[in-house]
Amino acid sequence: MATRSFNLVIAVDGPAASGKGTIAKAIARHYGLPHMDTGALYRAVGLAVLRRGGSPADAGVAEAAARALDLSLLEDHALRDAATSEAASGVAVHPGVRQALFDLQRSFAAQPGGAVLDGRDIGTVIAPDAVAKLFVTASDAVRSTRRQAELASRGEIRGFDEVLADLRRRDARDSDRDAAPLAQAADAALLDTSDLAIDAAVQRAVALVEQRIGAMRERG
Ligand code: CDP
Repeated sequence: MATRSFNLVIAVDGPAASGKGTIAKAIARHYGLPHMDTGALYRAVGLAVLRRGGSPADAGVAEAAARALDLSLLEDHALRDAATSEAASGVAVHPGVRQALFDLQRSFAAQPGGAVLDGRDIGTVIAPDAVAKLFVTASDAVRSTRRQAELASRGEIRGFDEVLADLRRRDARDSDRDAAPLAQAADAALLDTSDLAIDAAVQRAVALVEQRIGAMRERG
């Protein structure tokens, strides 16, 4: 990794199935930085609540699960199931859950050299001083097609309309909640991946990060 005089923190946010995870991983590889998928943390909390037979809407149960987060759930085969996505977005509305996961994310972002984190509130709450912020989007139809294929590759066969409705419902809940809603930070660069293959989207993302690095160096 090139030696830098600053911590290269890169925030990648965006709605469900926008391609932010793929882009964040590729950027991390490109710069030799560690990567954190923060959505996986909310998924693990949602899954823990479901496994206990609880409701994601129950703030007390969700917060207790977040405080005693079982990290082995990050490797669980059900982490990326549609039901877990829904539970993740259900638990993510509770401020106590977000607070319980805050330090883990903040310290990951603060490690020497920098880090890449993807999620919903990285550029706004977790790493507001990030060197580069990307807000990754894609059309609803493209996102649904991608998520449908991803679920199918894992044996979960779902109709396009059902997947589309799930994504829209989850985006609405993530955007409308009071606690750290899904939002493009004022200083985030928008990257629409609707018409971009993965390689092209990653190239574009790296170019945007390079612009931010250049701008920061100019400011001194
Ligand atoms: O992969 P996908 O974009 O569908 O979802 P994810 O990134 O794994 O996130 C799952 C859910 O966790 C989201 O719908 C959000 O409700 C929540 N989340 C959040 O609130 N804040 C984050 N930084 C990351 C995820």
